Amino acid sequence: MSKITIAIDGYSSTGKSTVAKQLAKQLGYVYVDTGAMYRAVTYYAMQNGLISETDFNKEALIYQLNKINISFEFNDGLGFAEVYLNNENIEKQIRTLEVSGFVSQVAAVSEVRQKLVEQQQQMGEARGVVMDGRDIGTVVFPKAELKLFMTASAETRAERRYNELIERGDQVVYNDVLKNVLERDYLDTHRKDSPLIKAEDAIEIDNSKLSLDEQFNKVLQLVKMTIEDCE
Ligand code: DC
Repeated sequence: MSKITIAIDGYSSTGKSTVAKQLAKQLGYVYVDTGAMYRAVTYYAMQNGLISETDFNKEALIYQLNKINISFEFNDGLGFAEVYLNNENIEKQIRTLEVSGFVSQVAAVSEVRQKLVEQQQQMGEARGVVMDGRDIGTVVFPKAELKLFMTASAETRAERRYNELIERGDQVVYNDVLKNVLERDYLDTHRKDSPLIKAEDAIEIDNSKLSLDEQFNKVLQLVKMTIEDCE
């Protein structure tokens, strides 16, 4: 069976990573969470005093980009690859609302994008990859055989994110999560470099009213049809 590249883009908290992980498991593909890579750079900037509520030292971050090494390591127990920054597992640290609050500013820096896109293209070279993000179908893999664009209402997405954070034990307020979702939507769609847009040939999936099973079956059907077309 031929292996394809599956690009999944969409707004934050639309369940991209959930469906991407399901597909990777089912198909035996590699899953790459590119949002985790932008979060890792953001975490580095926070740890090194380069970004705060009042200041973002973009030049220093660009200068230090060569000190930032991001890698993934498959965790058998979890069933997906966790992200490492300079050999430190930072999977948990990058999922906080604080990192979410800064990440869109960091992701708007062209030099950061250039470095991460290059690494993402290398990781997907061999095909058999499911990659999720904001620019996968438009910039990273414009020739991907299957492109999905996930959407859901902002309120639905904020509720999902809020539940996730509460489950992890984080103290958050729903309105702050909704505010972050709306702010990131705006920044991610309005930045100059690689803004979030639906690729012309992407298939849109609004999952506001779909159960996880319904969504997975729908997407799996699309994958099977695409693989058949490629053979
Ligand atoms: O998918 P996520 O919420 O973990 O992504 C975090 C941020 O990273 C998101 O707000 C925008 C940015 N991002 C991006 O600009 N390009 C990507 N390919 C993936 C994420």
